[in-house]
Amino acid sequence: MTQRPNYGIDAPNVIRNLLIACVVCVILALWVRSVTVAHIRFDFYPGFLYSAAAFGIPAVLMLLYAKVGKFHHRDRMLGKVAWTGAEMVLDVGTGRGLLLIGAATRLTTGHATGIDIWNAEDLSGNGPEGLLSNISLEGVGGKTTVKSENACQMNFPDGTFDVVLSNLCLHNIYDQAGRSRACHEIARVLKTGGAAVISDYKHVKEYRGEFIKCGLNVEMCPLERIDTFPPLRILVARKRA
Ligand SMILES: C[S@@+](CC[C@H](N)C(=O)[O-])C[C@H]1O[C@@H](n2cnc3c(N)ncnc32)[C@H](O)[C@@H]1O
Repeated sequence: MTQRPNYGIDAPNVIRNLLIACVVCVILALWVRSVTVAHIRFDFYPGFLYSAAAFGIPAVLMLLYAKVGKFHHRDRMLGKVAWTGAEMVLDVGTGRGLLLIGAATRLTTGHATGIDIWNAEDLSGNGPEGLLSNISLEGVGGKTTVKSENACQMNFPDGTFDVVLSNLCLHNIYDQAGRSRACHEIARVLKTGGAAVISDYKHVKEYRGEFIKCGLNVEMCPLERIDTFPPLRILVARKRA
């Protein structure tokens, strides 16, 4: 059987917990239906069916993003760059290489580097092995490099990259000071004239503020289509020549 690339499921534990809560609510509503405690009767039907929907619908939408929406979103992000094929590209929090590989397929003489710290809870099967397997299956081994490195403290010299990409990574840095450091690192490794295309579902205005502090020109892109869950915002930060 031909092996196909696997780009993983984002936040798999969140999806699992939502599905468990959904099933428990369905069981309480349709099977248990009510309990009586100290002569007080609690009815689970039909109220808990609404709770089941409140847990189940986000879980299904998150799975749809992982299986379909993320590929549209990757193309939307990569579409913000006027590619020549010669770019030096960095993907911050590359995971299983969604953007790294997408960018590499647009390169001729350029090169794409992906960094990550491989948090298991952020993406299913997260680790260099899964990424290297995808790189090999997509045939971009000669145009990519993978490094275990933290977004908050990168070892690249100033002005290394023409394009910096990052999707759904920075919100995983839980403290504001850490997210600020990561934005400043992205600005630092960007070449003059280069662009950072950053996407996330929260803190995007905070990133905008940090990039402006670094002297970058920031464009907040309007939501073009809601085919991601949670809805993802994109910003493009350019380092003026
Ligand atoms: C939800 S996954 C998204 C992966 C990929 N960007 C995509 O869109 O498919 C978030 C990734 O960010 C990585 N990550 C989280 N914090 C990081 C940090 N401080 N430095 C580098 N990578 C980080 C996680 O390990 C994970 O691979």
